[in-house]
Amino acid sequence: MIIALDGPSAAGKGTLARRLAAHYGLAHLDTGSLYRAVGGRVLREGGDPGDAAHAVAAAAALTEEDRLAGDLRSEAVGQAASKVAAIPQVRAKLLEFQRDFARNPPGGAAGAILDGRDIGTVICPEADVKLFLTASLEARAERRFRELQAAGAAPIKRAVLEEMTLRDRRDSERQTAPLMPAHDAFVLDTSALDADQVFAAAVEHVSERMRSRRA
Ligand code: DC
Repeated sequence: MIIALDGPSAAGKGTLARRLAAHYGLAHLDTGSLYRAVGGRVLREGGDPGDAAHAVAAAAALTEEDRLAGDLRSEAVGQAASKVAAIPQVRAKLLEFQRDFARNPPGGAAGAILDGRDIGTVICPEADVKLFLTASLEARAERRFRELQAAGAAPIKRAVLEEMTLRDRRDSERQTAPLMPAHDAFVLDTSALDADQVFAAAVEHVSERMRSRRA
């Protein structure tokens, strides 16, 4: 079974992906971490994440160390990830790794769940189940604000909102593989839902899809 899970930042993809992976025994790939690893590497090398030549070289040379970098989840690396992700050659470099993970999930897992922006549209258009999580900008900014606070930072609400607006725009308006639901995706607005409610709705949809595919 392959589950494609897409949506904008802070819509709840990471939490849902981990729970679905545990529930169905699937291997999980957070594809955003690949773009973050590329963006973070360019920053560490003192480069500009918008410089296509540098970003492509970083994607080609990506190591396990880049993928485990301590600042992977920082806002600066998130913005850099969003910039390198708009470069078509960077996306092309990361495509096969993602498809291979979906086709041959590691650890003998029964299948895979990949979360990102273009999984249902580009990486795994043949996925058994496609979910698209979304939420209002305000709800997502509030969640990100609380996450940053919980991590010990002192975020400024307006800055969080502005950074999220910027990243949404860049991810949605780029030419290659922009953020959008696949035509056959189940779209779930999580603005007023907690993690348990999101999980319950997703499981219900997955079960329904699997039943109708067997029939
Ligand atoms: O999900 P995230 O915040 O970790 O992703 C970081 C950036 O990577 C995001 O702003 C856009 C990009 N990305 C992408 O273009 N395609 C994906 N499949 C996953 C992430």
